[in-house]
Amino acid sequence: MLETLSITDNRTGKTYEVPISEGAIRATDLKKITTGGDDPGLCTYDPAFMNTAACKSKITFIDGDQGILRYRGYPIEQLAESSTYLETAYLILYGELPNQHQLAEWTNKITMHTMVHENIKKFMEGFTYDAHPMGVFISTVGAMSTFYPDGKQIFNAESRQKQILRLIAKTPTVAAYAYRHSTGRPYIYPDNDLSFTGNFLNMLFKMTEVKYQPNPALERALDVLFILHADHEQTCSTSAMRGIGSSQADPYSSLAGAAAALYGPLHGGANEAVLHMLKDIGSVNNVPAFIKRVKGGEGRLMGFGHRVYKSYDPRARIIKQTADLVFEVTGRNPLTDIALELERIALEDEYFVSRKLYPNVDFYSGLIYQAMGFPLDMFPVLFAIPRTAGWLAQWDEMLRDSDQKIARPRQIYIGASRRDYVPRESRG
Ligand code: ACO
Repeated sequence: MLETLSITDNRTGKTYEVPISEGAIRATDLKKITTGGDDPGLCTYDPAFMNTAACKSKITFIDGDQGILRYRGYPIEQLAESSTYLETAYLILYGELPNQHQLAEWTNKITMHTMVHENIKKFMEGFTYDAHPMGVFISTVGAMSTFYPDGKQIFNAESRQKQILRLIAKTPTVAAYAYRHSTGRPYIYPDNDLSFTGNFLNMLFKMTEVKYQPNPALERALDVLFILHADHEQTCSTSAMRGIGSSQADPYSSLAGAAAALYGPLHGGANEAVLHMLKDIGSVNNVPAFIKRVKGGEGRLMGFGHRVYKSYDPRARIIKQTADLVFEVTGRNPLTDIALELERIALEDEYFVSRKLYPNVDFYSGLIYQAMGFPLDMFPVLFAIPRTAGWLAQWDEMLRDSDQKIARPRQIYIGASRRDYVPRESRG
């Protein structure tokens, strides 16, 4: 039986039946609710898309109240335990876990696309030594659209696949070059003998040794962090990817826009902001005073709170365990005690409890990255690399979705009504 919502318009006394499908009504169905004449019909007002679904998706499921995250149905805990980033990226993009042959082929193809055009290196050399690596990353990914003009063939499935391979394979190279640039060290070419994260560590940290050998525990920890960051359904940056892609822009331009959305401190820039916050707090003794200031409206407890999770972010739980494994190799990050004390107090405090504010993915990830030797400004870049898989999967899904058109929200105009132009000399 068709489920409907009955709406009675008190202005006209008319009743409308609006179909409900998959727990949603179509906003365009409300247009028929009109008072007649030139009334364009009812629309919804939803700043920040608090309760508006902009797409149907088969990629990622989140239950924010229960703290559940699944990629293509697989619980994040199982993927973090048993999968690798490249296998998870395949799952996210193609909907199924690869068999052994598919995984070998996928890994080989990614490995063969890790090098970037030498002119990209030259382009990156133009940045000043203290350029923020995320700014360098965003610009370089955008510039890649000029190197791969075939990326414009977005309705050619084969071409889309090629751009997907290129972007997943080359974003670590671009990120590593951005880092090496900031330290004044020569860029390191990819090493195809190493794993995806092992090679990334090589491109970041290789010095004069003939062959870089990544520490297996750190290589695995980075892989787990990449799995946890690979997708998160319709985030601010993913909506940017879909929004830009909906105008049929090439994937490099769309992904540069998505990365720019990720850069902000309320989204992927939060991991960097957490570390600045922990440094500013300085010691465990200062935590109560800091919490008091946050409650008084002076700033936010960075790494806490989430639009969707109203319970513990499942990724934060896994990251906390990963941190212990990393610290066994690197030594404990001294800021960890401040983070633990912040979490302890916040989870008992009425302000945070009543607003359902819990640690999110960014609360502990920065502690790990710092212990591994990454400078703070690399943190958002470390988020963007794995999220590339999610952005591309969402972009590909959007292009194949017949419900989608160019994204173009409506507005409620509240400005001046029609008035005549006043000559400059007559204005007061
Ligand atoms: N510290 C203190 N108070 C907070 C925090 C926080 N981190 N987050 C939310 N609040 C408070 C707000 O002040 C508000 O209180 P009020 O009702 O008294 O006005 C209430 O909780 C609801 O907050 P909103 O801003 O309305 O929640 P929203 O869903 O819009 O924001 C967000 C979510 C942006 C993540 C927010 O919690 C925040 O700013 N957190 C800190 C930044 C952060 O860690 N971002 C990373 C998110 S995860 C990611 O993007 C990967």
